[in-house]
Amino acid sequence: MNPLQITNLTKTFKTPKGELLFAVNDVNLSITPGSIHGLLGPNGAGKSTLISLISGITAPTTGSITLFGIDIAKNPNAAKALLGVVPQEVVVEMAFTVEEVLYYFSGMYGVPTNERMDRITNVLNDLDLSDKRHAKAKSLSGGMKRRLMIAKAILHKPKFLILDEPTAGVDVALRQKIWDLVRRLNNEGTTILFTTHYLEEAEQLCESITLMNHGAVIKEGKLKDIQQEFSKNSIHFELYDRDVSHALGVLSTGSEFEFPMTNLAEDIAMLTKHYHGNIKTIRSEAASLEQIFLTLTA
Ligand SMILES: Nc1ncnc2c1ncn2[C@@H]1O[C@H](COP(=O)(O)OP(=O)(O)OP(=O)(O)O)[C@@H](O)[C@H]1O
Ligand SMILES: [Mg+2]
Repeated sequence: MNPLQITNLTKTFKTPKGELLFAVNDVNLSITPGSIHGLLGPNGAGKSTLISLISGITAPTTGSITLFGIDIAKNPNAAKALLGVVPQEVVVEMAFTVEEVLYYFSGMYGVPTNERMDRITNVLNDLDLSDKRHAKAKSLSGGMKRRLMIAKAILHKPKFLILDEPTAGVDVALRQKIWDLVRRLNNEGTTILFTTHYLEEAEQLCESITLMNHGAVIKEGKLKDIQQEFSKNSIHFELYDRDVSHALGVLSTGSEFEFPMTNLAEDIAMLTKHYHGNIKTIRSEAASLEQIFLTLTA
């Protein structure tokens, strides 16, 4: 059963001039169980609107969303129990302590009373917030508030976790911690959807991505396949002895040589044969996600 299945989903807003803005425009999306999926796109692409629709905070104009086969419009409570969402905007209950906030949310998500304190201890440990357990939420730093938001979303051990820019504006150490947590939750069976503007982060964490622009999906699939599709189709290699007769079509590019690729296996076999034991390193060039992103959203 797919954690998320979105069918022909559209959300329009009226602009002040009375025109229709398609924040989400006929989106179809399905996410493989157990994956870490990146939802990418420029500012205003529609990512957060899509997440609000999945969370049930915003109602769609048309289309449907199912979480593990449950239609969120027909059975919102059952669907929400399977879902954890960390929204883009930091919203914490300022007047309460960290423990009080988490106790309240664990109750809201149906965590049994006798398990709540243990769960709170565990998530505070995971997010390095244990020493702030009795501090008022309003006294936390920005990064700590973001951690509290994540804690709120994972207390009930959701099967599907959505994080909207969880690492925006957080320091390097915390970013690593969030990555570790995302990977660990994923290893424990949680499917993850997250948005980020740090494309290297997406490259490190995601198996698959969806790229949105102007409300529509403009590319989706396995990250490796997309990189392959956009690869420069060339083989780069270094030689121990550079002063040799070169194979036809080989160009010198600084310390490396480049060969336009037609068939990876055949070309590497040809180059290896031509240069005997003279090849020091050899690789095919994969396009970076940043290059792909800029090409597709230009
Ligand atoms: N409540 C609303 N009323 C009117 N327009 C809205 C509303 N919410 C979002 N929009 C518009 O919908 C579009 C998509 O916004 P959204 O917040 O989904 O983008 P995003 O991809 O999350 O961008 P970012 O990377 O900046 O967070 C924008 O043009 C935005 O102004
Ligand atoms: Mg957003």
